[in-house]
Amino acid sequence: MPSVLGIVGSARRNGNSEMMVRVALEGAVASGAQTEILRLTDFDIKPCRGCLSCVLKDQDCPQGDDAEFVLGKLLTADAVVLGVPVYVLSPAGSVKMLLDRVLMAEHIAPGRSRSPRPAAAIVTLGRSDDWIGFSVPLLSSTLLCAGFWIADTLVAPAPGPGEILLERDVVERSRAIGRDLLSTERRFPSEDTRCPICFGEAFFLRGDGQVECPICLVQGEVIGRRGEKALIRFDADYPTRHRFVPHLMEDHMHNWVRASQPRFLARLDTIRQARAPFKDKPVDWVKPPAR
Ligand SMILES: Cc1cc2nc3c(=O)[nH]c(=O)nc-3n(C[C@H](O)[C@H](O)[C@H](O)COP(=O)(O)O)c2cc1C
Repeated sequence: MPSVLGIVGSARRNGNSEMMVRVALEGAVASGAQTEILRLTDFDIKPCRGCLSCVLKDQDCPQGDDAEFVLGKLLTADAVVLGVPVYVLSPAGSVKMLLDRVLMAEHIAPGRSRSPRPAAAIVTLGRSDDWIGFSVPLLSSTLLCAGFWIADTLVAPAPGPGEILLERDVVERSRAIGRDLLSTERRFPSEDTRCPICFGEAFFLRGDGQVECPICLVQGEVIGRRGEKALIRFDADYPTRHRFVPHLMEDHMHNWVRASQPRFLARLDTIRQARAPFKDKPVDWVKPPAR
């Protein structure tokens, strides 16, 4: 039986993110999946220390917290529904804490982040779209970096905990997302108002007049409008050239992240000389208050 993992990024019990994820999982159960749900804030997920032991030495993370466990759940699920509130124009920090640890993926479950599986990103927020910021593409990037492709996204506006349940259309959309998640066929539309990979609506305007998704690097040109939004025709080769194509991600890990170590070591003497003047200079570090 295929497994669908629900992940809630809000600490609020019975909150909107939890409700949306639970409704989506009900839809997944109705279509024959087995489900599990976890709340990110129940787990001890510490900040990444930037030591790169996981990537460079294929070692367990020295933080010794729950990140490996949670990422293991994410990487072994057949599909994922991630529901997170917008906090100050971005997804809540619980998700970013997890995303910062995603470099461990290959150490935890070799090859899984190169085996594409469907995921849905649900963003809950207090106001309608004008206080959403970059939340959708940032949430999607967490899933894309873990090897998922985005089957659907849902923006669910309601401020109070559980208030979203009064929005019947949104609730039914969430249920349908869960129901269809494992059977949704992956599509690569040639035109849309959103990035076809992360579903974000924010694009860089390039000097050559093309627009580019800053998350996925999909490029295209504005060819008209659909309602209030610009309609973009994407470059035909984007399905094989966007940032999250598995072999391009592997190339980045191999030729950039892992290759940074020999480059660094080759320049270490010069770097040490450049650092030397800082070594014995007194610095007034602000100390955390005593508890
Ligand atoms: C610290 C904080 C920051 C918030 N920032 C935003 C925001 O930038 N835009 C917005 O539309 N709603 C914002 N909200 C409202 C929440 O996104 C909204 O209430 C959401 O439904 C909460 O989901 P939850 O019940 O799953 O926690 C914020 C709420 C909090 C507590």
